[in-house]
Amino acid sequence: MTAARPTDRRPALVESGVSTRVRVAIIGGGIIGLACAWQLLRSGCNVTVLDPDVAGGATHAAAGMITPSSEATFGQEPLLAASTASASRWPSFAAALAADSGLPVDLRRAGTLFLAADHDDEQVLARQARLLERHHRAVERLPGRATRRLEPALSPRLAGSLLIADESSVDPRQVARALRVAIARRGGEVLSAPARPLVRDGRSIGVERLEERGAAGHAGSAGHIGQVGTTGADVTVMAAGWATTALAAGLGITVPIRPLKGQVLRLRPSAPDVLRHIVRACVHGRFVYLVPRPGGEIVVGATSEDVGPDSTVTAGAVHDLLHDAIELVPELSEAALVESITGLRPATPDNLPIVGATGIDGLVVAAGHGRDGILLAPLTAAAVVSHVLGSAPPEQADAFTPERFAVKERA
Ligand code: GLY
Repeated sequence: MTAARPTDRRPALVESGVSTRVRVAIIGGGIIGLACAWQLLRSGCNVTVLDPDVAGGATHAAAGMITPSSEATFGQEPLLAASTASASRWPSFAAALAADSGLPVDLRRAGTLFLAADHDDEQVLARQARLLERHHRAVERLPGRATRRLEPALSPRLAGSLLIADESSVDPRQVARALRVAIARRGGEVLSAPARPLVRDGRSIGVERLEERGAAGHAGSAGHIGQVGTTGADVTVMAAGWATTALAAGLGITVPIRPLKGQVLRLRPSAPDVLRHIVRACVHGRFVYLVPRPGGEIVVGATSEDVGPDSTVTAGAVHDLLHDAIELVPELSEAALVESITGLRPATPDNLPIVGATGIDGLVVAAGHGRDGILLAPLTAAAVVSHVLGSAPPEQADAFTPERFAVKERA
Protein backbone atom coordinates (compact mmCIF):
# COMPACT_ATOMS: atom_id res chain seq x y z
CA MET A 1 0.00 0.00 0.00
CA THR A 2 1.29 3.46 -0.79
CA ALA A 3 -0.22 6.45 0.96
CA ALA A 4 -2.00 9.02 -1.13
CA ARG A 5 -0.62 12.51 -0.83
CA PRO A 6 -2.92 14.49 1.52
CA THR A 7 -5.19 16.87 -0.32
CA ASP A 8 -5.69 20.27 1.29
CA ARG A 9 -9.45 20.43 1.82
CA ARG A 10 -9.39 23.35 4.29
CA PRO A 11 -11.67 25.00 5.15
CA ALA A 12 -14.14 23.59 2.64
CA LEU A 13 -14.36 22.31 -0.85
CA VAL A 14 -14.84 25.06 -3.37
CA GLU A 15 -16.67 23.97 -6.49
CA SER A 16 -17.69 26.41 -9.21
CA GLY A 17 -17.15 29.24 -6.77
CA VAL A 18 -19.61 27.73 -4.28
CA SER A 19 -18.13 26.73 -0.93
CA THR A 20 -19.45 23.42 0.41
CA ARG A 21 -18.56 21.66 3.64
CA VAL A 22 -16.37 18.57 3.37
CA ARG A 23 -18.61 15.49 3.59
CA VAL A 24 -17.19 12.63 5.60
CA ALA A 25 -18.61 9.11 6.01
CA ILE A 26 -17.26 7.08 8.92
CA ILE A 27 -17.72 3.32 8.97
CA GLY A 28 -17.73 2.33 12.64
CA GLY A 29 -19.53 3.85 15.63
CA GLY A 30 -17.23 2.78 18.47
CA ILE A 31 -15.16 5.25 20.48
CA ILE A 32 -12.77 5.87 17.57
CA GLY A 33 -15.41 6.48 14.90
CA LEU A 34 -17.51 8.65 17.22
CA ALA A 35 -14.55 10.70 18.49
CA CYS A 36 -13.41 11.31 14.90
CA ALA A 37 -16.96 12.27 13.88
CA TRP A 38 -17.32 14.77 16.72
CA GLN A 39 -13.96 16.43 16.07
CA LEU A 40 -14.64 16.58 12.32
CA LEU A 41 -17.97 18.28 13.00
CA ARG A 42 -16.16 20.76 15.27
CA SER A 43 -13.81 21.41 12.37
CA GLY A 44 -16.69 22.28 10.05
CA CYS A 45 -17.29 19.00 8.18
CA ASN A 46 -20.59 17.26 7.46
CA VAL A 47 -20.41 13.79 9.01
CA THR A 48 -22.37 10.55 8.80
CA VAL A 49 -21.42 7.56 10.97
CA LEU A 50 -22.62 4.06 9.98
CA ASP A 51 -22.55 1.01 12.22
CA PRO A 52 -24.98 -1.91 12.58
CA ASP A 53 -24.21 -2.14 16.33
CA VAL A 54 -23.81 1.46 17.43
CA ALA A 55 -23.97 0.99 21.19
CA GLY A 56 -22.10 -2.34 21.23
CA GLY A 57 -18.66 -3.49 20.15
CA ALA A 58 -15.38 -3.29 22.04
CA THR A 59 -16.23 0.17 23.44
CA HIS A 60 -19.20 -1.26 25.33
CA ALA A 61 -16.96 -3.79 27.09
CA ALA A 62 -13.95 -1.50 27.67
CA ALA A 63 -12.83 -0.59 31.17
CA GLY A 64 -11.88 2.97 30.19
CA MET A 65 -8.36 3.20 31.61
CA ILE A 66 -6.35 6.30 30.72
CA THR A 67 -3.20 4.59 31.97
CA PRO A 68 -0.19 5.04 29.67
CA SER A 69 2.39 4.24 32.37
CA SER A 70 0.85 1.17 33.92
CA GLU A 71 0.10 -0.29 30.44
CA ALA A 72 3.67 0.42 29.23
CA THR A 73 5.93 -2.47 28.28
CA PHE A 74 9.58 -2.71 27.23
CA GLY A 75 10.15 -2.31 23.51
CA GLN A 76 6.93 -0.29 22.95
CA GLU A 77 8.33 3.22 23.30
CA PRO A 78 6.34 4.73 20.35
CA LEU A 79 3.14 3.48 21.97
CA LEU A 80 4.17 4.98 25.33
CA ALA A 81 4.86 8.35 23.68
CA ALA A 82 1.55 8.32 21.81
CA SER A 83 -0.40 7.14 24.87
CA THR A 84 1.11 9.83 27.05
CA ALA A 85 0.30 12.50 24.46
CA SER A 86 -3.28 11.25 24.14
CA ALA A 87 -3.74 11.03 27.94
CA SER A 88 -2.72 14.67 28.23
CA ARG A 89 -5.49 15.57 25.75
CA TRP A 90 -8.18 13.79 27.79
CA PRO A 91 -9.01 16.60 30.30
CA SER A 92 -9.83 19.15 27.57
CA PHE A 93 -11.48 16.45 25.41
CA ALA A 94 -13.78 15.48 28.32
CA ALA A 95 -14.58 19.08 29.26
CA ALA A 96 -15.40 20.05 25.66
CA LEU A 97 -17.52 16.93 25.21
CA ALA A 98 -19.49 17.61 28.39
CA ALA A 99 -20.10 21.19 27.22
CA ASP A 100 -21.09 20.11 23.70
CA SER A 101 -23.37 17.26 24.76
CA GLY A 102 -24.83 18.73 27.97
CA LEU A 103 -24.08 15.33 29.56
CA PRO A 104 -21.60 14.42 32.30
CA VAL A 105 -18.22 13.05 31.21
CA ASP A 106 -16.55 11.95 34.44
CA LEU A 107 -12.77 11.83 34.16
CA ARG A 108 -11.68 10.21 37.45
CA ARG A 109 -8.12 11.26 38.23
CA ALA A 110 -7.47 9.06 41.26
CA GLY A 111 -4.31 7.40 39.92
CA THR A 112 -3.31 3.75 39.66
CA LEU A 113 -2.00 1.33 42.27
CA PHE A 114 -0.02 -1.47 40.61
CA LEU A 115 -0.02 -4.33 43.12
CA ALA A 116 1.98 -7.47 43.69
CA ALA A 117 0.31 -10.40 45.42
CA ASP A 118 3.49 -12.31 46.32
CA HIS A 119 7.28 -12.06 46.17
CA ASP A 120 7.52 -13.28 42.55
CA ASP A 121 4.92 -10.74 41.50
CA GLU A 122 7.08 -8.06 43.10
CA GLN A 123 9.70 -8.74 40.42
CA VAL A 124 7.11 -7.71 37.82
CA LEU A 125 6.54 -4.49 39.76
CA ALA A 126 10.26 -3.80 40.01
CA ARG A 127 10.59 -4.25 36.24
CA GLN A 128 7.69 -1.85 35.61
CA ALA A 129 9.24 0.70 37.99
CA ARG A 130 12.58 0.47 36.14
CA LEU A 131 10.84 1.01 32.80
CA LEU A 132 8.93 4.04 34.07
CA GLU A 133 11.95 5.54 35.81
CA ARG A 134 13.96 5.15 32.62
CA HIS A 135 11.30 7.24 30.86
CA HIS A 136 11.09 9.77 33.72
CA ARG A 137 7.51 8.84 34.61
CA ALA A 138 6.08 9.73 38.01
CA VAL A 139 6.07 6.46 40.00
CA GLU A 140 6.42 5.78 43.72
CA ARG A 141 7.24 2.38 45.28
CA LEU A 142 5.10 1.69 48.36
CA PRO A 143 5.31 -1.13 50.93
CA GLY A 144 2.15 -3.12 51.74
CA ARG A 145 1.20 -1.05 54.80
CA ALA A 146 1.42 2.30 52.95
CA THR A 147 -0.59 0.79 50.11
CA ARG A 148 -3.38 -0.19 52.51
CA ARG A 149 -3.43 3.29 54.02
CA LEU A 150 -4.42 4.50 50.52
CA GLU A 151 -6.89 1.67 49.91
CA PRO A 152 -8.07 0.10 53.19
CA ALA A 153 -10.17 -2.55 51.37
CA LEU A 154 -7.05 -4.22 49.95
CA SER A 155 -5.92 -7.53 51.43
CA PRO A 156 -3.32 -7.26 54.24
CA ARG A 157 -1.41 -10.10 52.52
CA LEU A 158 -0.32 -7.96 49.54
CA ALA A 159 3.42 -7.58 49.10
CA GLY A 160 3.61 -3.95 47.89
CA SER A 161 2.67 -1.57 45.12
CA LEU A 162 3.63 1.15 42.70
CA LEU A 163 1.64 4.37 42.91
CA ILE A 164 1.22 6.03 39.50
CA ALA A 165 -0.60 9.14 40.59
CA ASP A 166 -1.23 10.85 37.24
CA GLU A 167 -3.49 8.17 35.67
CA SER A 168 -7.24 8.35 35.25
CA SER A 169 -10.31 6.56 33.92
CA VAL A 170 -13.62 7.22 32.20
CA ASP A 171 -16.76 5.17 31.67
CA PRO A 172 -16.64 4.37 27.93
CA ARG A 173 -20.42 3.88 27.76
CA GLN A 174 -20.94 7.35 29.23
CA VAL A 175 -18.39 8.84 26.80
CA ALA A 176 -19.97 7.09 23.79
CA ARG A 177 -23.43 8.35 24.80
CA ALA A 178 -22.12 11.90 25.15
CA LEU A 179 -20.39 11.63 21.76
CA ARG A 180 -23.60 10.49 20.05
CA VAL A 181 -25.53 13.41 21.57
CA ALA A 182 -22.76 15.91 20.74
CA ILE A 183 -22.68 14.61 17.14
CA ALA A 184 -26.45 15.03 16.80
CA ARG A 185 -26.33 18.54 18.33
CA ARG A 186 -23.71 19.55 15.74
CA GLY A 187 -25.86 18.24 12.89
CA GLY A 188 -24.10 14.90 12.36
CA GLU A 189 -25.89 11.62 11.73
CA VAL A 190 -25.33 8.21 13.31
CA LEU A 191 -27.06 5.53 11.23
CA SER A 192 -27.63 1.98 12.40
CA ALA A 193 -26.49 0.28 9.20
CA PRO A 194 -23.66 -1.90 7.94
CA ALA A 195 -21.64 -0.21 5.21
CA ARG A 196 -18.56 -0.56 3.04
CA PRO A 197 -16.47 1.97 1.12
CA LEU A 198 -17.47 2.79 -2.44
CA VAL A 199 -14.54 3.34 -4.82
CA ARG A 200 -14.83 4.49 -8.45
CA ASP A 201 -11.90 5.09 -10.80
CA GLY A 202 -9.43 4.70 -7.96
CA ARG A 203 -11.13 7.30 -5.77
CA SER A 204 -13.33 6.87 -2.71
CA ILE A 205 -16.73 8.45 -3.38
CA GLY A 206 -18.65 7.44 -0.27
CA VAL A 207 -20.18 4.28 1.15
CA GLU A 208 -22.65 1.59 0.18
CA ARG A 209 -25.24 1.03 2.90
CA LEU A 210 -25.91 -2.67 3.26
CA GLU A 211 -28.62 -4.87 4.61
CA GLU A 212 -27.64 -8.22 6.05
CA ARG A 213 -30.35 -10.81 5.53
CA GLY A 214 -29.79 -13.79 7.75
CA ALA A 215 -32.13 -16.58 8.76
CA ALA A 216 -33.92 -14.22 11.13
CA GLY A 217 -33.82 -11.45 8.55
CA HIS A 218 -32.42 -8.80 10.88
CA ALA A 219 -29.43 -6.51 10.45
CA GLY A 220 -26.28 -7.93 11.96
CA SER A 221 -27.15 -11.56 11.36
CA ALA A 222 -25.09 -13.66 8.98
CA GLY A 223 -26.37 -14.12 5.47
CA HIS A 224 -26.65 -12.45 2.09
CA ILE A 225 -25.67 -8.84 1.88
CA GLY A 226 -27.76 -6.55 -0.24
CA GLN A 227 -27.13 -2.94 -1.05
CA VAL A 228 -29.89 -0.61 0.17
CA GLY A 229 -28.37 2.69 -0.90
CA THR A 230 -25.33 4.89 -1.07
CA THR A 231 -24.09 7.86 0.92
CA GLY A 232 -21.79 10.16 -1.04
CA ALA A 233 -18.73 11.51 0.76
CA ASP A 234 -15.56 13.40 -0.11
CA VAL A 235 -13.66 11.34 2.45
CA THR A 236 -14.51 7.96 3.98
CA VAL A 237 -12.92 6.83 7.24
CA MET A 238 -12.75 3.11 7.99
CA ALA A 239 -12.98 2.88 11.80
CA ALA A 240 -14.63 -0.50 12.23
CA GLY A 241 -12.17 -2.13 14.64
CA TRP A 242 -11.05 -5.60 13.57
CA ALA A 243 -13.77 -5.67 10.85
CA THR A 244 -11.71 -2.99 9.06
CA THR A 245 -9.42 -5.73 7.74
CA ALA A 246 -12.23 -7.20 5.62
CA LEU A 247 -13.40 -3.75 4.44
CA ALA A 248 -9.86 -2.92 3.33
CA ALA A 249 -9.21 -6.35 1.80
CA GLY A 250 -12.24 -5.83 -0.46
CA LEU A 251 -10.29 -2.92 -1.97
CA GLY A 252 -6.94 -4.73 -2.12
CA ILE A 253 -5.52 -2.87 0.91
CA THR A 254 -3.60 -4.60 3.70
CA VAL A 255 -4.79 -3.56 7.18
CA PRO A 256 -3.73 -6.39 9.52
CA ILE A 257 -6.08 -6.35 12.52
CA ARG A 258 -7.26 -9.42 14.42
CA PRO A 259 -9.82 -9.77 17.21
CA LEU A 260 -8.21 -10.28 20.64
CA LYS A 261 -10.84 -11.54 23.04
CA GLY A 262 -11.14 -9.93 26.47
CA GLN A 263 -13.62 -11.14 29.08
CA VAL A 264 -14.75 -8.55 31.62
CA LEU A 265 -16.96 -8.59 34.73
CA ARG A 266 -18.89 -5.86 36.49
CA LEU A 267 -19.35 -6.11 40.27
CA ARG A 268 -21.65 -4.04 42.49
CA PRO A 269 -20.38 -4.03 46.08
CA SER A 270 -22.94 -3.39 48.83
CA ALA A 271 -20.77 -0.60 50.30
CA PRO A 272 -20.11 2.49 48.18
CA ASP A 273 -16.59 3.48 47.10
CA VAL A 274 -14.80 0.27 48.04
CA LEU A 275 -11.92 1.41 45.83
CA ARG A 276 -10.76 4.89 44.88
CA HIS A 277 -7.76 4.08 42.66
CA ILE A 278 -7.57 2.02 39.50
CA VAL A 279 -5.98 -1.22 40.67
CA ARG A 280 -3.76 -3.25 38.38
CA ALA A 281 -2.13 -6.32 39.77
CA CYS A 282 -0.01 -9.32 39.14
CA VAL A 283 -1.60 -12.14 41.14
CA HIS A 284 0.68 -15.19 41.20
CA GLY A 285 1.85 -14.40 37.68
CA ARG A 286 -1.59 -13.50 36.24
CA PHE A 287 -2.62 -9.92 35.41
CA VAL A 288 -5.93 -8.40 36.48
CA TYR A 289 -7.33 -4.90 36.83
CA LEU A 290 -10.15 -3.34 38.83
CA VAL A 291 -11.58 -0.02 37.69
CA PRO A 292 -14.04 1.77 39.99
CA ARG A 293 -16.95 3.61 38.41
CA PRO A 294 -18.51 6.78 39.85
CA GLY A 295 -21.67 4.91 40.94
CA GLY A 296 -19.62 2.40 42.99
CA GLU A 297 -19.49 -0.47 40.48
CA ILE A 298 -16.15 -2.09 39.78
CA VAL A 299 -15.09 -3.38 36.37
CA VAL A 300 -12.84 -6.43 36.60
CA GLY A 301 -10.81 -7.40 33.56
CA ALA A 302 -9.56 -8.83 31.46
CA THR A 303 -8.53 -11.96 29.70
CA SER A 304 -6.41 -11.70 26.57
CA GLU A 305 -7.26 -14.60 24.26
CA ASP A 306 -6.02 -14.94 20.69
CA VAL A 307 -8.92 -17.18 19.63
CA GLY A 308 -10.57 -15.30 16.78
CA PRO A 309 -14.00 -13.69 16.83
CA ASP A 310 -15.43 -15.67 19.74
CA SER A 311 -17.73 -13.84 22.16
CA THR A 312 -18.39 -16.70 24.57
CA VAL A 313 -18.13 -15.87 28.26
CA THR A 314 -16.44 -18.90 29.80
CA ALA A 315 -16.70 -20.35 33.29
CA GLY A 316 -12.92 -20.57 33.61
CA ALA A 317 -12.37 -16.88 32.83
CA VAL A 318 -15.12 -15.78 35.21
CA HIS A 319 -13.60 -18.02 37.89
CA ASP A 320 -10.07 -16.63 37.40
CA LEU A 321 -11.16 -12.98 37.31
CA LEU A 322 -13.30 -13.39 40.44
CA HIS A 323 -10.59 -15.37 42.23
CA ASP A 324 -7.96 -12.69 41.59
CA ALA A 325 -10.29 -9.77 42.37
CA ILE A 326 -11.32 -11.33 45.68
CA GLU A 327 -7.72 -12.15 46.57
CA LEU A 328 -6.92 -8.44 46.15
CA VAL A 329 -10.11 -7.06 47.74
CA PRO A 330 -11.65 -9.77 49.99
CA GLU A 331 -14.97 -7.97 50.54
CA LEU A 332 -15.74 -8.31 46.82
CA SER A 333 -16.87 -11.87 47.60
CA GLU A 334 -20.11 -10.22 48.83
CA ALA A 335 -20.55 -8.04 45.72
CA ALA A 336 -23.30 -8.66 43.17
CA LEU A 337 -22.01 -9.97 39.84
CA VAL A 338 -24.05 -7.72 37.55
CA GLU A 339 -22.46 -8.38 34.16
CA SER A 340 -20.10 -10.68 32.33
CA ILE A 341 -19.23 -9.62 28.81
CA THR A 342 -16.70 -10.14 26.05
CA GLY A 343 -15.00 -7.42 24.01
CA LEU A 344 -13.02 -8.11 20.85
CA ARG A 345 -10.03 -5.76 20.90
CA PRO A 346 -8.77 -4.79 17.43
CA ALA A 347 -5.14 -5.90 17.73
CA THR A 348 -2.28 -5.22 15.30
CA PRO A 349 1.02 -7.09 14.91
CA ASP A 350 3.02 -4.27 16.60
CA ASN A 351 0.32 -3.10 19.08
CA LEU A 352 0.12 0.34 17.45
CA PRO A 353 -3.06 1.51 15.75
CA ILE A 354 -3.27 2.06 12.00
CA VAL A 355 -4.29 5.65 11.28
CA GLY A 356 -3.79 7.63 8.11
CA ALA A 357 -4.19 7.78 4.37
CA THR A 358 -4.57 4.61 2.35
CA GLY A 359 -3.40 4.20 -1.23
CA ILE A 360 -6.87 5.28 -2.39
CA ASP A 361 -7.57 9.00 -2.59
CA GLY A 362 -10.29 10.04 -0.15
CA LEU A 363 -10.04 6.86 1.94
CA VAL A 364 -8.60 7.05 5.46
CA VAL A 365 -8.19 4.31 8.05
CA ALA A 366 -8.41 4.69 11.86
CA ALA A 367 -8.46 1.27 13.51
CA GLY A 368 -6.40 -1.34 15.36
CA HIS A 369 -6.21 0.34 18.77
CA GLY A 370 -5.93 -2.95 20.64
CA ARG A 371 -5.93 -2.43 24.42
CA ASP A 372 -5.84 1.37 24.06
CA GLY A 373 -8.91 2.57 22.14
CA ILE A 374 -10.28 4.76 24.90
CA LEU A 375 -6.85 6.11 25.84
CA LEU A 376 -5.88 6.91 22.24
CA ALA A 377 -9.22 8.36 21.09
CA PRO A 378 -8.34 12.08 21.47
CA LEU A 379 -5.00 11.78 19.66
CA THR A 380 -6.52 9.58 16.94
CA ALA A 381 -9.39 12.01 16.36
CA ALA A 382 -6.93 14.92 16.01
CA ALA A 383 -4.86 12.88 13.54
CA VAL A 384 -7.93 11.94 11.49
CA VAL A 385 -9.08 15.58 11.28
CA SER A 386 -5.63 16.37 9.82
CA HIS A 387 -5.74 13.49 7.36
CA VAL A 388 -9.23 14.50 6.21
CA LEU A 389 -8.51 18.22 5.90
CA GLY A 390 -4.96 17.88 4.60
CA SER A 391 -3.10 19.52 7.48
CA ALA A 392 -0.12 18.12 9.44
CA PRO A 393 -1.16 15.44 11.97
CA PRO A 394 0.24 15.51 15.55
CA GLU A 395 3.76 14.07 15.39
CA GLN A 396 3.05 11.60 18.23
CA ALA A 397 0.72 9.86 15.78
CA ASP A 398 3.47 9.42 13.14
CA ALA A 399 4.07 5.85 14.30
CA PHE A 400 0.44 4.99 13.42
CA THR A 401 1.14 5.24 9.67
CA PRO A 402 -0.54 2.53 7.57
CA GLU A 403 2.56 2.53 5.35
CA ARG A 404 4.44 0.34 7.83
CA PHE A 405 2.32 -2.58 6.61
CA ALA A 406 2.60 -1.67 2.95
CA VAL A 407 3.35 -4.63 0.74
CA LYS A 408 6.71 -3.71 -0.76
CA GLU A 409 6.62 -3.80 -4.53
CA ARG A 410 9.37 -5.91 -6.14
CA ALA A 411 12.12 -3.78 -7.70
N1 GLY B 1 -7.17 -1.64 28.23
C1 GLY B 1 -7.42 -2.81 28.95
C2 GLY B 1 -7.75 -3.99 28.14
O1 GLY B 1 -7.73 -3.96 26.93
O2 GLY B 1 -8.04 -5.00 28.74
